Amino acid sequence: MVKESVNPPADTVVPPDTSLFIQEAVKAYSWINNGEGSPLTIRVNPKKLEQYKTHGPYTDGPTAIAVSEVQGIIWVTEHFGGLPIYGSYNRKGQDISSMHPTLEPEFCQRCHETYKDICINGTCTEPLLDAYK
Ligand code: HEC
Repeated sequence: MVKESVNPPADTVVPPDTSLFIQEAVKAYSWINNGEGSPLTIRVNPKKLEQYKTHGPYTDGPTAIAVSEVQGIIWVTEHFGGLPIYGSYNRKGQDISSMHPTLEPEFCQRCHETYKDICINGTCTEPLLDAYK
């Protein structure tokens, strides 16, 4: 595990200087755990740690996962042929992307690929926690 993060509660007051990007990420996932927020753990494939630090280029296979500890929602970013592929699963490894519109791969892609200055090669660095220090 390399870093910990949070899904803040829905009523979290986002500091005004928080980037639009983080505000959007908070809003999009505020439904998790009924708006109460949940701890989010990010784990990076040990074989890809060096690649993660430099945002790629990534080799094929799973790259990083983010786990919402309360509801057991697992976000997965994999790479194939250098392109990021997104998915969401529960702890049993079942695909849950149809559970909620924000879990659809297209939705992940929209956010992860729109903000090119923050998300590079499909992984995002701006640590959510920094906004809440
Ligand atoms: C509204 C914006 C947004 C959407 C939509 C989104 N993400 Fe993310 N994602 C982020 C942000 C911001 C981070 C960085 C969080 C941090 O570092 O605390 C992140 C981090 C991650 C990470 C951890 C590795 C890394 O640093 O990139 C994975 C894995 C991930 N997202 C997968 C997904 C998947 C799969 C989906 C769709 C089911 C998804 N994301 C949808 C914004 C988004």
